[in-house]
Amino acid sequence: MSLDYLCPLCTFALQKIDNTLSCENRHSFDFAKEGYVNLLPVQNKNSKHPGDSLEMVQARRAFLEQGYYRFLQQALIEIVSDINADTLLDLGCGEGFYTHALAQHTQAQVYGVDISKSAIKFAAKRYPNCHFSVASISEAPFKSQFADILISVFAPLFEHELARLAKPNAQLIIASPGPWHLKELKELIYKHVNEHTEIQPPSGFEHLKTTLISQQVQLEFNELKNLIMMTPFAWKFRPEQWHALEQTASKSVTLSFYISQFKVKNS
Ligand SMILES: C[S@@+](CC[C@H](N)C(=O)[O-])C[C@H]1O[C@@H](n2cnc3c(N)ncnc32)[C@H](O)[C@@H]1O
Ligand SMILES: [Zn+2]
Repeated sequence: MSLDYLCPLCTFALQKIDNTLSCENRHSFDFAKEGYVNLLPVQNKNSKHPGDSLEMVQARRAFLEQGYYRFLQQALIEIVSDINADTLLDLGCGEGFYTHALAQHTQAQVYGVDISKSAIKFAAKRYPNCHFSVASISEAPFKSQFADILISVFAPLFEHELARLAKPNAQLIIASPGPWHLKELKELIYKHVNEHTEIQPPSGFEHLKTTLISQQVQLEFNELKNLIMMTPFAWKFRPEQWHALEQTASKSVTLSFYISQFKVKNS
């Protein structure tokens, strides 16, 4: 089967022979025992372990397993299962919570890519129904017009790559924080909590629809800890704030997500 990966060193097509992808220039990349392929060349890494750390990945998996974000997963499934697609690409897929669930509800081949090796290791080990790779989505190792569906859940957006990777009729689906997502946690560390606004159409796309979904949940300390550890503001929590949080039996927290759907703009 052709897997449509491009060589991250020379951008020639990669062919799969046995457990190895290689290009005409004899660059080759082996599949790891977990089933993913690492397409992030050492020279493209800006740190030893780019992307989410093992600690963040473990916290995210532990939190997501509790089911509090299942309503977001379900909303994405409902959108994707209505779209006729051959290829779905989840950009910045993390440990695969959304990727594998979408794969169960589409006939498309599902690809998940993330720059964090720890995240992809976790993803590939648990979810054999998807093709996982370690790579940067700022220069994603896939041919142009690769995907019918592009998914981005709380991941960085690289507009030039979104436009390049989308087939002419593709949909781009972005999940981003809703107005007061995690407000109660942010109030512990920021004087003013700013409302999140909707994502504007990336260049090359036009807006189709935005859905806002929200839930209020009651979380115990261990759950709060994992939730904080998987956010970019975890490092802002000082020891005394952790301590104060530990003393509270549980806390009510707002979970809120915009799901924005875009289609490729017709020129
Ligand atoms: C907030 S997490 C979201 C993960 C997953 N989509 C989820 O919601 O569970 C953001 C992810 O983007 C990844 N990421 C950050 N920069 C990236 C890049 N340049 N290329 C690929 N992935 C990147 C991180 O490693 C991390 O797994
Ligand atoms: Zn090559």
